[in-house]
Amino acid sequence: MSIGHPELVAAIVFEIAASGPMPFARFMELALYHPRFGYYMRSPDSPQERIGRRGDFYTSSDVHPILGQALAKQAEQMYRLLGQPHPFTIVEMGPGKGLLANHVLTTCAHRYHSFFQHLRYVLIDRSPAMRELQRRSLAPWLDRAGLLTWVDDLATMAPQGLTGLVFSNELVDSFPVHRVQVTAKGIEELWVDYRDGRFVECLMPLSSDRLAHRLRLVSADWPEGYRAEINLQASDWMQQVAQHLDRGFVLTIDYGHTAQDLYRSDRKQGTFLCYFQQSINEDPFLRVGEQDMTAHVDFSSLAAAGEGWKLQTTGFTNQMSFLMGLGVEQMIAELEQDSPQFKEAIHLLRPNGMGTTFKVLIQHKGIRQPELDCLQYKPFFGSALTMQSAA
Ligand SMILES: C[S@@+](CC[C@H](N)C(=O)[O-])C[C@H]1O[C@@H](n2cnc3c(N)ncnc32)[C@H](O)[C@@H]1O
Repeated sequence: MSIGHPELVAAIVFEIAASGPMPFARFMELALYHPRFGYYMRSPDSPQERIGRRGDFYTSSDVHPILGQALAKQAEQMYRLLGQPHPFTIVEMGPGKGLLANHVLTTCAHRYHSFFQHLRYVLIDRSPAMRELQRRSLAPWLDRAGLLTWVDDLATMAPQGLTGLVFSNELVDSFPVHRVQVTAKGIEELWVDYRDGRFVECLMPLSSDRLAHRLRLVSADWPEGYRAEINLQASDWMQQVAQHLDRGFVLTIDYGHTAQDLYRSDRKQGTFLCYFQQSINEDPFLRVGEQDMTAHVDFSSLAAAGEGWKLQTTGFTNQMSFLMGLGVEQMIAELEQDSPQFKEAIHLLRPNGMGTTFKVLIQHKGIRQPELDCLQYKPFFGSALTMQSAA
């Protein structure tokens, strides 16, 4: 079986030869986002489609437009709660193929005419290849002056300039993660070395004090052999978002858990997975650059990072409750019972599938205790999002 994309493998081997083993997070960064050869960075014209029913994995917007329709409805309520600002900017981060953006824009244009007049939509994706796919999906909107803007990196936008909504779907799970394991020596980190023509993992001391600090917050009762992932980039990203948002909301959809659930002692193998042609495996050293890698999101750390930068937590829910709060029953009632569209919309709500695996974190800034429709039904209460111990 292939070890991976040849030029990418050579680039990683070169870095290891020059500097020694690398933390797993660095390996994952190169595998997914090496500027020329990374999984997400290569040309969209490469024969294999990445995201979609025929790709390695699919996301909600490949299933049915109902999530985009619900998001549009929620954004319109946010616009009213903020006093109908002009412009109201939606920043979508990591839009992938741009399907969700298309569903949101189509719904706004057809159902929320006044809101649509004030809407600006900014797409931020670090992959030039994905930006090209987005331009194709959003071609019908390109001639509408001032509606769409592409930005390579949030850091290049003026700080504090935004009023509106920053949202993402399955962005944070694609950030590189540190992987750790409890051994007889304490908690060690997985580093990646290259020996005898293969990438191998080795357990070595933690690569940073920051990682050690985060582990002190979440690792209270882990038994020997326990493995977990720590996503430090998620907190950096949340800080950056908070610094750019002047007034408005951040809405983050992804599969994940509260820290208490993600890091509980019986979840011994962590949540790291690779996706290739709709099948799952746990071996990141196969098909490097040709398969996706991901880990479940720690929503408690995301909320805590936001609170450190004046983003208050509005609420936390799952995709099923989120959609129910936005009237998805009504939307589904308009579909023909048992039609393929009906079944696909239901798929996003499944109580033992996408409906509960996916969570939604909503944060706000510059507005007092907003009451949002999407948070009418909350399956989490009180201190669910707090970290295990306050070190
Ligand atoms: C798993 S895909 C999700 C795509 C899309 N949101 C969907 O639901 O189909 C992750 C996307 O995030 C992008 N991405 C990863 N890290 C990013 C970052 N730091 N800033 C912006 N985009 C990023 C990737 O290039 C990719 O397009």
